[in-house]
Amino acid sequence: MYNLLKGKKGIIFGALNEDSIAWKVAERAHEEGAIFTLTNAPIALRMGTINELAKKTGATVIPADATSMDDITNLIDQSMEILGGKIDFVLHSIGMSVNVRKGKHYTDPNYDFTTKGWDISAVSFHKVMNVLYNKKAMNEWGSVVALTYMAAQRVFPDYNDMADNKAYLESIARSFGYFFGRDHKVRVNTISQSPTMTTAGSGVKGFDAFINYAEEMSPLGNASAIECADYTISLFSDLTKKVTLQNLFHDGGFSNMGISTKVMRNFGDTE
Ligand SMILES: NC(=O)c1ccc[n+]([C@@H]2O[C@H](COP(=O)([O-])OP(=O)(O)OC[C@H]3O[C@@H](n4cnc5c(N)ncnc54)[C@H](O)[C@@H]3O)[C@@H](O)[C@H]2O)c1
Repeated sequence: MYNLLKGKKGIIFGALNEDSIAWKVAERAHEEGAIFTLTNAPIALRMGTINELAKKTGATVIPADATSMDDITNLIDQSMEILGGKIDFVLHSIGMSVNVRKGKHYTDPNYDFTTKGWDISAVSFHKVMNVLYNKKAMNEWGSVVALTYMAAQRVFPDYNDMADNKAYLESIARSFGYFFGRDHKVRVNTISQSPTMTTAGSGVKGFDAFINYAEEMSPLGNASAIECADYTISLFSDLTKKVTLQNLFHDGGFSNMGISTKVMRNFGDTE
């Protein structure tokens, strides 16, 4: 390993189980010399296996519902106390659509579910940055990253209202990132990741077909969770200090493809 995060302090949201992208980020951050706290919603702490990860990485687990300003405030206060100072990096790896969970179609959602979904998946990012910014809890040249998906820009019908939530999330990264950069020299970016087999991912209808299609379209193939973790670590490191307000595609090239020869073969002879 490269000691890329030596001496850095962080907060990692969203490690539910070992499939979670946030789990891989925590493992890589630990390998690169960081110390951090882990957090998830109280119910996820009961259902998941985060304590194993905490043991492995020497991290403390602090419960927080990412929609609650009180929980976030407590999380950030406690993290600074446990870690012994201000924060250098934060990962927001949170997404949930109640409409998807309950099988509601995009054209006829339950709007209370819609509201809950955008609060969890997008506004929570604003709330986290609000507390970090107003408490001046981040060190200069710190880095905040949220995970997103390309359905924010292109149509993926079964992604349902998560597409709208991701568009909202990416906009918050730019808008809040401006103030965070101008006032505290903190960078804010989103990583737009390939479809990845996790608990959240597999909630999307037809996810297997979705993954296989993306694999065949991408010149480098789909990016794995561990590769996403590597990319995230680079954004937390001092090697990317002037990268901010960006939505960064980490998808093996998928986002710039029109058609690939592999996919064309399914529609007739291409020779
Ligand atoms: N898996 C994919 O295909 C894929 C692709 C692109 C982007 N992403 C994004 O990556 C991020 C992580 O998802 P994942 O695929 O690792 O799945 P995951 O299910 O392991 O992670 C989602 C996390 O969100 C947490 N969460 C839900 N409600 C919460 C709340 N109220 N407060 C705090 N935490 C809450 C869950 O407990 C869980 O840990 C999400 O933003 C997801 O949209 C996933």
